[in-house]
Amino acid sequence: MCGIVGVLGSHEVAPILVEALKRLEYRGYDSAGIATVNNGALDRRRAVGKLVNLSDLLVHEPLAGKSGIGHTRWATHGAPSVNNAHPHRVGGVAVVHNGIIENYRELRAELAEQGVHFTTDTDTETVALLTELYLREDPDPVRAAYRTLDRLQGAFALAFLFDGHEDLIVAARKGSPLALGHGDGEMYVGSDAIALAPLTDRITYLEEGDRAAVTRNSVTIHDAQGQQVARPVKRIRRDSARVDKAGHKHFMSKEIAEQPEVIAEAIRRYLPSGETTIRLPDDSLDFSKVQRLTMVACGTAYYACLTAKYWFEQLARLPVEVDVASEFRYREPPVTDGTVALFVSQSGETADTLAALRYCAGKADKIVSVVNVPESSIARESDLALPIHAGVEIGVASTKAFTCQLSVLLMLALKAATDRGTISPEALADHVAALRGIPAMLNLALDQDDTIRAAAQRLSEARDVLFLGRGAMYPLALEGALKLKEISYIHAEAYASGELKHGPIALIDQHMPVVVLAPRDALFDKTVSNMQEVMARKGKVLLISDQDGIDAASDGVWDTIRMPRVHDALTPILYAVPAQLLAYHTAVAKGTDVDQPRNLAKSVTVE
Ligand code: AGP
Repeated sequence: MCGIVGVLGSHEVAPILVEALKRLEYRGYDSAGIATVNNGALDRRRAVGKLVNLSDLLVHEPLAGKSGIGHTRWATHGAPSVNNAHPHRVGGVAVVHNGIIENYRELRAELAEQGVHFTTDTDTETVALLTELYLREDPDPVRAAYRTLDRLQGAFALAFLFDGHEDLIVAARKGSPLALGHGDGEMYVGSDAIALAPLTDRITYLEEGDRAAVTRNSVTIHDAQGQQVARPVKRIRRDSARVDKAGHKHFMSKEIAEQPEVIAEAIRRYLPSGETTIRLPDDSLDFSKVQRLTMVACGTAYYACLTAKYWFEQLARLPVEVDVASEFRYREPPVTDGTVALFVSQSGETADTLAALRYCAGKADKIVSVVNVPESSIARESDLALPIHAGVEIGVASTKAFTCQLSVLLMLALKAATDRGTISPEALADHVAALRGIPAMLNLALDQDDTIRAAAQRLSEARDVLFLGRGAMYPLALEGALKLKEISYIHAEAYASGELKHGPIALIDQHMPVVVLAPRDALFDKTVSNMQEVMARKGKVLLISDQDGIDAASDGVWDTIRMPRVHDALTPILYAVPAQLLAYHTAVAKGTDVDQPRNLAKSVTVE
């Protein structure tokens, strides 16, 4: 995904635009650019790579003006380059875009027939070309932009700036989020409230299909049906949009360290102190009437769903299907009566997950989402949205959001078990007590940082790494492998321990580190057998377990990381910490860009 911003200011906007783009850089960082209108004249500066390159350019080639738009890019169509960088400008119009114009090829063919020449490989250039074409037929910029919007198919958040119009930005939202910020005699446009927080706490979230003509003193919004509408102005908590590292070297290490605090907050929100009853935002979800739970997500959020499957099935005896969103929606699975469809997404904007949600709308009895952004598209299109209260997560690799997702999903599974009468009051109280104790246990896990850093130094020399786990530790192994590969660029795979002997064991030799996630639970002995199969073939086992497990099975292993002993149901939340820290320290040892790994973006709002 990309980040877009616009400012109709009372001071020079270039530094304000760049500062806002810094807060959006987690959305993509292949290139960046801004455009302004100064004394009626439109102009722009663009640079490939990180935002710092644009800042450097602006030192040498400053851009004046009190109205402007800006963009930080995650490349979809067209390689990262200055020429493909936004804003795209054609004649008297400049455009910044987040999303994909699905019908841009047809539009380019239509324009080519009219003799229009293209200078970039991007879909966004088509938007600027069409608008310029319409401006020539009708000089009204709003009408020209709206006429263009009527031609576009796909997902987009757009901001338009026009030559000769210093007090106008046209903004539009379809499939990608867009917010308006209300200042004092100023107005702002941004992909999310994080970008606008330093400027204002008064935010209007455009709805799906909205388009807005924005001036410093007015906002005129039309909905998807062309009706003029008023959207509410909400107050955001600006501290919740704080994006600083709080003394950490990286956002990722800060967010790993925040987990005890944010998980305690998430627990408090659903489990009022002294109670064992799980409280959801409303009483509309009664699992005694639910026949089946379908969970859909992407990436780390998908692994949270895979983990929760064990909890729902074991605690609530509820049949659960889990799938990645990009497969689910094209499989077109039957959605039978009594099905609740649950979508997990940190950003709440992942295109594949949103599309899967829309596939289930009207089919499932209820659409439930577990999100970190309550005003996101996925939350707004759910019957019931369950916030995870993780706070802003800037690191592209998801950490605190993952463990907060797990915490909320475990509480949801406990509610399901309560509704379905499959858990005794004593067992419920036992689980709730253990959950309330997990923040302290996470702190003990974080205390293992030095040990984990030492293990990571050794791991950083590997070319390939294997992760193994059984039961709910298997999705944790998948998550550990994903964390390692996405930030250290070391190839890593995960297997259910029992699967090793069915092929992957052929990979084992003295060069292959094997990370084994194995608390001393009912499956521990089985996993130890798998570990011995690895060591018998000179594989190097890094065992992550509790003291009992290490005492029982650490002979001959390459290395160990000790975790505190916790309730079996809580081990997935706890063992996420060593998996995260292992990946983090390995990446630091390798010198990769931990917070903004190559090729990635924080949320993928395109298919
Ligand atoms: C997590 O480390 C990854 N960056 C990625 O897999 C992410 O979990 C996935 O893209 C889903 O994002 P979402 O939770 O915002 O939907």
